[in-house]
Amino acid sequence: MKILVLHGPNLNLLGKREPAVYGSRTLDELNRDLINLAERLGVEITCRQSNHEGELIDILHHAAVEFAAVVFNPGAYSHYSFALHDAVLSIEIPTVEVHLSNIYAREDFRNHSVIAPAAAGQISGLGVSGYFLALRAAVELAGA
Ligand code: DQA
Repeated sequence: MKILVLHGPNLNLLGKREPAVYGSRTLDELNRDLINLAERLGVEITCRQSNHEGELIDILHHAAVEFAAVVFNPGAYSHYSFALHDAVLSIEIPTVEVHLSNIYAREDFRNHSVIAPAAAGQISGLGVSGYFLALRAAVELAGA
């Protein structure tokens, strides 16, 4: 079974970007930890990152061909991208939305996710542990 881990805009800067909010782990380190967890769970993962809405949509469109579920941090697109909402809805595999920070405890504009109604579920505010939980949830949802 293969799971796609998809990181949205600005997440390439993890570790450098507002470490008090997003932690000091780099994206490479997070991806390595996720690959290790996937090995322990007996699944394969592919990690991708893009800063571009259209590219994220294209990646999601192709995901169902190869993957059984998606772990997706849509970054700031979470709060306004109806196109990404539609892309998540249009694929026939479950998507688990994840946020490092607690989007409900931050600025008003972050308190709403337009992706959430299209996702199987959402994890927010647990830092990198949220990604590990999201991967476990994705594996369960995909019926491993
Ligand atoms: C984020 C939260 C978003 O509001 C923000 O724009 C991000 C990261 C998170 O993981 O906490 O880029 O998705």
